[in-house]
Parts: sequence; structure tokens; C-alpha cells
Amino acid sequence: MGRAGQIHAGIFKDKVPEATLMCVVDEAENAAKDAGTRLGVNWTTDTDKALRDDTVDAVVVAVPTYSHASVASAALEAGKHVLVEKPLAHTPKEAERLFREAQSSDRVFQVGYMRRYDRAYREVKDRIANGSLGLLLIYRAIAHDPAPPPGWAADPKLSGGIFYDMLSHDFDMGRYLMASEVSSVYAIGSSKVCEEVAKKGDLDTVAVIMKFKSGAFGYVEGFRNSPYGYDLRTEVVGSGGSAVVGAMNDPGLTFADQKGLRQYGVKWFADRFNAAFVAEDNDFAKAIVTRGDPRVSASDGIRAVEIAEACRLSVARKKPVSLEELD
Ligand SMILES: NC(=O)c1ccc[n+]([C@@H]2O[C@H](COP(=O)([O-])OP(=O)(O)OC[C@H]3O[C@@H](n4cnc5c(N)ncnc54)[C@H](O)[C@@H]3O)[C@@H](O)[C@H]2O)c1
Repeated sequence: MGRAGQIHAGIFKDKVPEATLMCVVDEAENAAKDAGTRLGVNWTTDTDKALRDDTVDAVVVAVPTYSHASVASAALEAGKHVLVEKPLAHTPKEAERLFREAQSSDRVFQVGYMRRYDRAYREVKDRIANGSLGLLLIYRAIAHDPAPPPGWAADPKLSGGIFYDMLSHDFDMGRYLMASEVSSVYAIGSSKVCEEVAKKGDLDTVAVIMKFKSGAFGYVEGFRNSPYGYDLRTEVVGSGGSAVVGAMNDPGLTFADQKGLRQYGVKWFADRFNAAFVAEDNDFAKAIVTRGDPRVSASDGIRAVEIAEACRLSVARKKPVSLEELD
């Protein structure tokens, strides 16, 4: 019942007709109790007890990334369908283990890359599919967060680091839109802005050049502490045109007074992707009810982790890293 857990719980309470929110869980009693009371559902601090409940069919795992593998694995073992937040895990080893368990299970297993459900990204994907952009040449993504990551997320040993925690969204979107796997990356980074991030050994500013197997190129940029707020922009350039998602301003919000005309950005991911989270959770429920495949699979989860790991290694080795080297 942290940031992500509360978003999903609120959605499952009211906005997924095929599901009933049965219970909220958090090891911190106040977090579980506050959310349970607010939502009017059972709450507990005992994950195992919740997993033993036979009336529960499915679980959303939104614990910190370092516990994804253990909690998601316990949920699969208890026979539950699982939607695990991104990234799949904070190390390649844990991600691989969870991936294998998901592959050998007959339960629905989905990874929380909710941007894939966003209307604008969907439209780009559709236009690419109908050929409007021609041959895809360049993928460009800019991700600037408004504030440094809180608590555990500032520690790369717990979150996997900026490439896992933050930019794996952009790696997932790159694979999805460009319809190609990434073959190699060259990543550079610094940590001059967020003191806690630097102290814990992570980076706050990074840039990644990627090569796709298709022959296309990619550029992904991440910044943890943008002075003007949240800024997410994505562009796909093709021989037939270009598609851009996102802008520094929020076109839906303009403010005017004696100081002049001002436009602000979207505040944070929960506002920007609210509808996408709703669609993501509904896709999970639909996959369970129809025994279909969710839009984001365990394979997608492991591929994003591999790209993140290659970036991490590239910074350490100060040279490009081919994803084949990871095997
Ligand atoms: N899709 C997105 O854009 C998005 C956005 C935010 C977070 N996330 C992901 O969601 C996950 C959680 O992030 P957050 O920001 O919500 O974290 P958070 O720190 O806000 O919340 C985590 C909660 O989990 C509880 N917890 C910790 N270990 C637990 C355990 N073993 N069992 C039960 N409860 C436990 C903590 O008490 C805390 O309340 C992360 O993997 C993160 O990457 C995804």
C-alpha cells in the first residue's frame, strides 16, 4: 500500500467490473490499515495469510522491487494470477528466476509497464502498424522526474538503479514501438544533483545510445531531479514521418493572471497515466477471465531487465555492451 499499491487498489475497488477488491496487504500496519479503512476492505500485514485465502484469485505485487521475486513467486505458488509492478526484479538473476517460474505456470502473469495502455502511445503503435511512419529509423525518449526517488528506490542495491527503476519503462516502450529487440547499448551517467542517490552509488543523470536488431537507433535520456517538474517525451522517426508523444507543457492546463500566461506540465506519473493504469488493471482481469494473454508478458519483463543490466555494465566498463554478452 505504497505509491503504486494504492493506485492499483483504488482502481480494483471501483474501476474493474470483472474484479472485486478482497483485501489490501502491507507489512507496515499503518499503511495496510489506512488503505483498508479508506477503501472499506479487509486489510492485513500477513502476506502468507492473504495468499492462503482460496477466495482470492489474483494478486497485484507492488512491494519494493527487491521483494518482487519473493512475493510474486509465493503468489504463483499459491495458485494466484499475478500482476507484478515494473521492473520484473532488481537483478538479472532474480528476474530470470521469476521469469522461469512465470513461464512454467498456467497462471496469468503480467508486468506493470502501464505506458503501453496509454492512448497516445497506442495511437503511435497503430500508426506504425498501418505503415504511416514507413521504415522505422530512430527511437528517442526523454524521461525527467520531478524529484529524486524516495527511500529504498534511491539505493541501486534495492531498486536495481536508475536503468531498472526509471528507464526500464523507456526500454520497454522502445522494444514495443520499434517492434525490435535491442542488440547493444552504450550508456554514460553522472550523479551531481541528488546527494542521497550519489551516496548510495546510483546515477541521477544518464544517456543511452541503443542499437536495435532491426538496424534502427535509439537515444534514451534520464534525469532524476528536473527543476521544472515531470517531463516525458517520446519520438519515433521513420522514413515516412515522425510521431511525438508528450510535451513539456500540459495542453489541458493554462493559467493566466497579472503575471502573464503560464502553462504547466503534468504533475507526475499518477496523473499522466491514470487512465493507462485503469486499462492495465482491466487487461489483467480480462486475461484471467478469458484465459487470454495480457499485453505485457513475463518475456517483456525480462527483456527490459536485460537492457537495463547492459546499460549498468556499459557505465561500469565505459564502453558499449552487446546484449549477447549477458548470456
Ligand atoms: N508503473 C509505474 O510507473 C510505477 C510507479 C511507482 C512505483 N512502481 C513500482 O511499484 C513498486 C513499489 O513502488 P512504490 O513507489 O509504490 O514503493 P513504496 O515504498 O511507496 O511502497 C512499498 C510498500 O510496500 C510495503 N512492503 C515492503 N515490503 C513488503 C513485503 N515484503 N510485503 C508486504 N508489504 C511490503 C512497504 O511497507 C510500503 O508501504 C516498485 O517496484 C516500483 O518500481 C511502478
